Order: sequence, then C-alpha cells, then structure tokens
Amino acid sequence: MGFMKTIVRNVENKDNKEAIREAAGLLREGKLVAFPTETVYGLGGSGWMEEAASRIYEAKGRPSDNPLILHIGSMEMIDEIASCVPGPAKKAMDAFWPGPLTVILPKSDKVPYRVTGGLDSVAVRMPSHPAALALLREAGVPVAAPSANTSGRPSPTKAEHVVEDLDGKIPMVLDGGKVEVGVESTIVDFTGEVPVILRPGKITKDELEKALSTEVLMSTLSVKEDTVPRAPGMKYKHYAPKAQLVLILGEDREKVAEEITKRVRDCREQGMKTGVIATEETMGGYDADEVISVGSRSHMETVTANLYDVLREFDHRDVDVIFSEGFEGEEYEEAVMNRLVKAAGHQMIRV
Ligand code: TXA
Ligand code: MG
Repeated sequence: MGFMKTIVRNVENKDNKEAIREAAGLLREGKLVAFPTETVYGLGGSGWMEEAASRIYEAKGRPSDNPLILHIGSMEMIDEIASCVPGPAKKAMDAFWPGPLTVILPKSDKVPYRVTGGLDSVAVRMPSHPAALALLREAGVPVAAPSANTSGRPSPTKAEHVVEDLDGKIPMVLDGGKVEVGVESTIVDFTGEVPVILRPGKITKDELEKALSTEVLMSTLSVKEDTVPRAPGMKYKHYAPKAQLVLILGEDREKVAEEITKRVRDCREQGMKTGVIATEETMGGYDADEVISVGSRSHMETVTANLYDVLREFDHRDVDVIFSEGFEGEEYEEAVMNRLVKAAGHQMIRV
C-alpha cells in the first residue's frame, strides 16, 4: 500500500459539519475514515463495498475471516442488513440503541461475505456518539468498522492512538477527544434459541436480562481454547504488552498489595524494570519503577475509560514486567477482566 497523507479533523465542537461532510464523501467512495464512538475509535468503510472491507483488513493487518461490525445511524437500515430481527433482538435494540450494544442477526443477501468473514450472520450496532451518528446519517450507508488499531494492539481511545497505529495508511481521522466508555461494545448473539453474550462490555448481563425479561447466557469460549469460537475474533492472538503482564487476584485487597510488593522487590533485585497497574485507592502504596493508576474502584467507569491508554503507556515506558491488580465483580469488572486476562496471556496468581 502506498503512503498517503492522513488528515486529522477535529469534531469535538458542534461546528463540525464541514469535516463530517468530507468524511462521509470519502466513505461513499469506498475510502476509509477513523471516527470516534462512545466505546473506542472505529476504522470505517462502506458496508456495501467489498473493496472497502478489503482496505480495512489491509490497514489493520487483520485476518480477513474476522468479521466486521456494521454501524448504522437510523433504524430503517436494519431491514436492509438483516434477513430477520427476532423479538428479543428488537427489544434489546429498543432498550440500548443508540449505545454500546452490538447484536448478531441473520444477514441479508445485500451484505457482502467479505464484511461478515464468510458467515451468514452479521453484527450491527448504532453508536451514541454525536459525531459518529452525524457521520453515519450523512454517509447514508452502513459503515463497517472494527476498532481503529493495528491488529494485536490495544483499541484506540484517543485520536492520538489511531495516528500512532494508522498514520500514512488512511486518508482521514476524525478527532473527538477521549472516548467515554473505553472498552468495546457488548456483543450479543441473537441467532440461536437463547441470547448469548459473546463479548462483555458496558451493558451487563443483568441489564440485558431485565430489558429482555428472559435469560441471557455468558459465553465462556473467550477463555477456552479447545472449542470452536462463536465470535471469530476470539481465536486470534490478542493484545499483549511488550512486557510480561501478571494479574494478582484476591478478595483481600491488602494481601494483593503485599503480594505485588513482594514480587516487585524480587524482580528489582534481579535487575528488572518493574511496573504496577494500580488504582486510585492503592497507588501510593507501591514502590515499583513505574506505577500508573488505571482509575478508581469506587467508580469503575474510570477504569474502563483508562484501561487501553494505560496499557499503551506501559509500552512506551519500557518496563520488563507489569503486575496488575485484578477486578472482580459482575458489572464493569467483567469487561475489564476480559481484556486484562487476554493481555496477560492468562497469567494469573490468586492470593
Ligand atoms: O465497540 C465496538 O464494538 C467497536 C466500535 C468501533 O464500534 N468495534 C469493535 O470492532 O470492537 P472489532 O472488529 O474490533 O470487534 C468485533 C468483534 C470481533 O470479535 C468479531 O469476531 C465479532 O465482533 N463479530 C463480528 N461479526 C460477527 C458475527 N457475525 N458473529 C460473531 N461474532 C462477530
Ligand atoms: Mg478490535
């Protein structure tokens, strides 16, 4: 792919019509635009065009059998994308759209297999970020968009992260500042008998069950290697920091802190540069080379918002080993741990 100049346009204020119009024009021509959503930045291309999907896979360095999510700005478009919308899916869309929920539905003939990675189902989401909605409505086409990172890196939560990964590979980045949620959308598969959460996110199992008045299952396939994955994204190597990352889990916070302190000391004695992913509550208690707080335990939304930024930051600081506190619970904790466990390559110690 030849080098192209990447233009960054600010869309943080309301006065962004010109940038949105230009970006929508690029999308309609089959070109790529990175744009903010409330979860993470997306790398968008027209959902009707095979060549746009090919460009996305190429820019990200992503295997082309890992399917893309189609983003829409209005409800009417769902009938062009899905061959049918089961009742529970309709309820979920009504309850959580626009917002950080992706639904898996049977695909229509119009959606290219290049977008769905050869599957007969399709992932759809209506984001709530005002610039994303404005872009989707102006473009008038569904926009296929994975997270706008190089495959294998943490998802981008700031426009700077997108530029770090994709500068020179795409024509435009819309800069909407730091995203709100910080982890990717909750994915729910509605193609089977019972709705199944394929990826945890801000919208929890509990919230889904309340809205649907039915049982929702949590897929455990993201942690088991021996079964055929249902979200094809699960089988790929996930983000791993340059340093070895080890999670220290336990209900007793003091014990966790003691264990981290002990391990940091051991590693430093061996001449290693150490890092700790701490929280506001514990940050002052560590004596590692690099200590970064990921947020506050009593405001878990600060942890989801900062997580990927902190992981990228540790790559810049050149540490040899990182110890992280774990997060246990059934709400945001589920989404945070899902990402941390993958980043740690399942290296966990329970105290
Ligand atoms: O929050 C988000 O969902 C962000 C923003 C940009 O909207 N997008 C995002 O896309 O996280 P991506 O491509 O990084 O992750 C999409 C996930 C992958 O794990 C993929 O395998 C799964 O969705 N997926 C897509 N289509 C699917 C399908 N038909 N069946 C099962 N899983 C699917
Ligand atoms: Mg991704």
